[in-house]
Amino acid sequence: SVASQSVVVTDSILDRLRAPRPAASEKRQFGHLAILAGSRSMPGALAMSVKAALQSGVGLVTVFAPESIVSQLACQLPEAMWRTWPETPEGGLALEGLWQVKAMAGKASALLLGPGMGSEAETLALMGDVGKVWDAPAVLDADALRPEVVRAFRESGNTDIVVSPHDGEFMRLSGCSSSLDTEVSAYAKAQGVVVVKKGPNTRILDGSTLCVNSSGNAVLARGGSGDILAGLIAGLLAQGACPTLECACRAVYWHGKAADLLAVDRGQVAVRTTDLLGYLGRALRTKG
Ligand code: APR
Ligand code: MG
Repeated sequence: SVASQSVVVTDSILDRLRAPRPAASEKRQFGHLAILAGSRSMPGALAMSVKAALQSGVGLVTVFAPESIVSQLACQLPEAMWRTWPETPEGGLALEGLWQVKAMAGKASALLLGPGMGSEAETLALMGDVGKVWDAPAVLDADALRPEVVRAFRESGNTDIVVSPHDGEFMRLSGCSSSLDTEVSAYAKAQGVVVVKKGPNTRILDGSTLCVNSSGNAVLARGGSGDILAGLIAGLLAQGACPTLECACRAVYWHGKAADLLAVDRGQVAVRTTDLLGYLGRALRTKG
């Protein structure tokens, strides 16, 4: 099946983020994002997602991370609330910590699951169990992009799920042998999720609408740029300022525009992925 409607995502998608906040704003109006990610061997993916989330405008961020890496990350990123999660002998998130997510359901307005979590059997089982108890908006990225995890999130009737695969992850998730728009659209419709199919001109689809992003460049072809995008999508979802599909489009465009400004300023080669973060503010100040 093909999407019935197709739109190009342009700069005006950022206008809502450009409006000044009311003087009487209070942090809880801007949502509370929970992040469950990372492992002893991949703390960087988690760190990059948290950094991006902290710059998304969200009011509060709580991060659940393996106990052996929490103290170093908490020093680096003090704006988030850090909670230690029991870990497996290999350093992945253990099933035993599940009660913490249950305690968070009803408090947090969105969840980010996946970056740097690895693919140990116990951690994959945990992702499924999280899906069964989580009923607020959620972003599934990287290691959480597995059919059984998406199924677990959808089983509880949750209709605000964003999955953000690159081509390879899409094929693993869907069982399709390519990632053409028609296949991604059919998957989004069948599963009832929003798909952010990453690559040059990232596609954002919900089964009826196909959105094609117009920002971004090859400066993003470096490790961690996907982790930053996942943090931004989740941070916008937590704020609840717009429907799920639109939140995803806004994050994708914003991420790409930061990359465009970074490349103009510094070129595409001698930069670091985290340099993108310094251009998110400028992307909002620069119209068009
Ligand atoms: N032009 C424009 N945008 C690009 C380009 C390009 N040539 N190449 C990549 N991007 C963008 C994508 O659209 C996406 O937003 O950069 C981001 C890359 O995201 P990922 O593919 O998830 O890559 P990465 O950040 O390295 O992922 C980290 O997660 O998916 C796992 O196994 C993967 O180890 C990897 C980890
Ligand atoms: Mg990735």
